[in-house]
Amino acid sequence: MKILVAGGAGFIGSHTSVELLAAGHDVVCIDNLSNSKLEVIDRIKEITSRDVKFYNVDICNKKELLDVFDIESKTKKFDSIIMFAGYKAVGESVLKPIEYYENNLESLINICIAMKMYSCNSIIFSSSATVYGDPKIIPVTEACEKGKISSPYGQTKSMIEQILEDFVNSDKNISACLLRYFNPIGAHESGLIGEDPNGIPNNLVPYIADVAMGKRDYLRVFGSDYNTKDGTGVRDYIHVVDLAKGHVAALKLYNKPGVHIYNLGTGEGYSVLEVVKMYEKVSGKSIPYKIVDRRPGDVAVLYCDPSKAKNELGWSAKLNLEDMCRDSYNYQLKGRMNG
Ligand code: NAD
Ligand code: UD1
Repeated sequence: MKILVAGGAGFIGSHTSVELLAAGHDVVCIDNLSNSKLEVIDRIKEITSRDVKFYNVDICNKKELLDVFDIESKTKKFDSIIMFAGYKAVGESVLKPIEYYENNLESLINICIAMKMYSCNSIIFSSSATVYGDPKIIPVTEACEKGKISSPYGQTKSMIEQILEDFVNSDKNISACLLRYFNPIGAHESGLIGEDPNGIPNNLVPYIADVAMGKRDYLRVFGSDYNTKDGTGVRDYIHVVDLAKGHVAALKLYNKPGVHIYNLGTGEGYSVLEVVKMYEKVSGKSIPYKIVDRRPGDVAVLYCDPSKAKNELGWSAKLNLEDMCRDSYNYQLKGRMNG
């Protein structure tokens, strides 16, 4: 199939491009490089020994986006679009909500317009576990109602899910797959691509990686008084390569009109301190930490029941926490581009 990977130079988009190419699909990436580097595209080519067409385009620029569809549809139209492009920093979204609504919603709406104009009927969208808020029942299934969302970033995810549902309701040919990611971490085993946050990382594993590399003195553990195994927050960490393969599996719904929702996680919950311990094991480095106050908006425990994806897509995560931490550390040693 010919797939448009929007946000393909980013963390999850680059790993997904690799898995798509490995599965024999043709990939065209669009990215404005607002949170990624052009070099990633070369590294995707290096890993796969395959070519990738790349357009440096801001998807909010409708004309430029439609030009890409115009050029590409002259050879073969896209069979599906995987929409990763968007801003994703939760804390920043509280400070700059309008920029988040503008970029995340406008880019998605432009993609929908292009789909209509160029008869592409399939979209896979990067949603997030954040749409569940603080669910009453754990593990969380797709049948669980959406909850109270704690950030403008999370709101954009929920709003886009609604937009895509309305889009599907308006056109009996459209297939929209909403993939709700839990906590993607790790990196490709080659160490050539991985997660490269700009500035101070917000998320746990990128922060731990900085401590392991001596870039930061210690980790702040946000709260140790949760009702969990050791008092620290519990999450469903998933290896980014497993997550990427989940997208390849979801492509099988490309010609099944309707809204399809899947949790992509391992179904296992690990605490902050368990992740710290594992990172220490794989890196051989000590990760000093200090317990500080809870972070506003955090929930105690969030992990999923991934059985719907297993039953319907034939996909399940294969890699464990040790693989995730090992590959994250390997990327710090070999591939990291941001300092
Ligand atoms: P990322 O920032 O690494 O990748 C997003 C890419 O989109 C970047 O390369 C960025 O340059 C590009 N982009 C942003 N706005 C654009 C625009 N207007 N036009 C063109 N390109 C644009 O993020 P990621 O971690 O790979 O996440 C991918 C998607 O998955 C995001 O939508 C994110 O919200 C979602 N998601 C991520 C996580 C996570 O933990 N990483 C969890 C849940 C959901
Ligand atoms: C966060 C976002 C979520 C988003 C996801 C992926 C919030 C409230 N949630 O999820 O919306 O989809 O990232 O981008 O921001 N922790 C520390 N110290 C740190 C960093 C994190 O103790 O320096 C703890 C947190 O309290 C949490 C766990 O580590 O218990 C995981 O945190 P994080 O990696 O930020 O992911 P989430 O909060 O689950």
